[in-house]
Amino acid sequence: MTKRETVTVTDNVTGKSIELPIQRGTHGPGAVDITGLYRELGYVSFDPGFVATASCRSSITYIDGEQGQLLYRGYPIEQLAAKSSFLEVAYLMLYGELPHQGEMDTFVNSITRHTMINESLKSFYRGFNHDAHPMAIMVGVVGSLSAFYHGSTDIRNPVHREIAAHRLIAKMPTIAAACYKHSVGEPFVYPKNSLGYCGNLLNMMFSVPCEEYDVDPIAKKALDLIFILHADHEQNASTSTIRLAGSSAANPFACVASGIAALWGPAHGGANEAVLHMLGEIGDVSNIPKYIAKAKDKNDPFRLMGFGHRIYRNFDPRATLIRTMCHEVLAKLGNDKDPLFELALRLEEVALQDDYFKERNLYPNVDFYSGIIYKVLGIPTNMFTVMFAIARTVGWVSQWMEMIGDPQQRIARPRQLYQGAARRDYREMSGR
Ligand code: SDX
Repeated sequence: MTKRETVTVTDNVTGKSIELPIQRGTHGPGAVDITGLYRELGYVSFDPGFVATASCRSSITYIDGEQGQLLYRGYPIEQLAAKSSFLEVAYLMLYGELPHQGEMDTFVNSITRHTMINESLKSFYRGFNHDAHPMAIMVGVVGSLSAFYHGSTDIRNPVHREIAAHRLIAKMPTIAAACYKHSVGEPFVYPKNSLGYCGNLLNMMFSVPCEEYDVDPIAKKALDLIFILHADHEQNASTSTIRLAGSSAANPFACVASGIAALWGPAHGGANEAVLHMLGEIGDVSNIPKYIAKAKDKNDPFRLMGFGHRIYRNFDPRATLIRTMCHEVLAKLGNDKDPLFELALRLEEVALQDDYFKERNLYPNVDFYSGIIYKVLGIPTNMFTVMFAIARTVGWVSQWMEMIGDPQQRIARPRQLYQGAARRDYREMSGR
């Protein structure tokens, strides 16, 4: 019989020791179940930023930060990027297995049939100025979906959970494209069922009523690949936000709106937009040393956007795949000497030779190159994080489904280390 794995915690104030069980998963570090820490010793754990905290069990995605590996339902991201499609990855993420043809056809049909949004939602956009950031509009419009579908959002009903997930995956491109059309003052374009997921998005963004629009197959393929790479990433900030919001049994559309808000931050998904602004500010390879010095200067808030990661202590495999794709897309579109790409390559080369970055294992992450491809595809910088949100919706709804479907699921309610004022009595104004 295998020995029960535990860690012993001894309180050297009271001398009391307890055994905390270790739980093992398929891959990765074991997890110490610390529920006994409070029950037996009266202590809570303290881990700001959740650097060493597993918030849940999950079977969806696994990251090996040391090896720079990423698995979706056990399949390496490199294989999915080479052989799969975004909607096939969406099916895999939602249901745990690669679909056979019949399952794939049924899934694609469901997504295709839910791409339209309620006509009344169109007036929502008119409430925003044309220069409103598209992520601000996305938070509002996606959140407003929770005002619809009352007949099918009983989250304890698995059929309702599935249709909510399909609606979100299907409608994100339509809502996103409308954000862009609103910003440029052009008429919204309805989804076309004859186009694939990414072709439909490009058509809704860039076609206009006065002429035919042909989806560029290179752009469609590049977008599909970028979406695969952004689909999910364990318990990152936005996914954890959705799990926290969803743990109170909140409306799934409102939960995804909270995830969009968390993703928008420049430390998270907003980094792809921040990278383009940073490259624009650096401007020329001759300025790279100055900005590397700024990034290292503790008195300077400047950070090298698109560099570093909480988990990866090696290359982010997605950055490697996107860098390769940059070369291909730029060459195919006849622009393989894009100055921004050249500057990014040189910046990466210089940073990775610098001890500061090497000692801290700071490598390019998924956001470092993605913006360059979006720019080449004609997507404006302020829409980069919206693209990220479209792709990550697959991971968000998959993780939400996994959590809500767990019979042991309970509301998430972290504790704190209180360091405020000690108990004291109210003082009348005259006595202050
Ligand atoms: C995404 O979680 C996910 O999986 C996220 C994501 C996903 O798919 O969901 O992968 C997507 O959000 C990618 C990350 C995008 N963000 C950026 O590119 C912004 C720039 N990077 C960082 O701000 C930072 O690296 C984070 C936020 C990504 C990670 O922050 P951590 O883990 O809290 O690391 P840290 O801030 O504690 O940094 C450790 C050290 C510090 O120096 P010391 O105090 O040890 O001397 O590294 C330094 C930091 O100052 N550092 C950087 C740096 N990132 C970290 N220094 C310069 N430039 C940087 N980019």
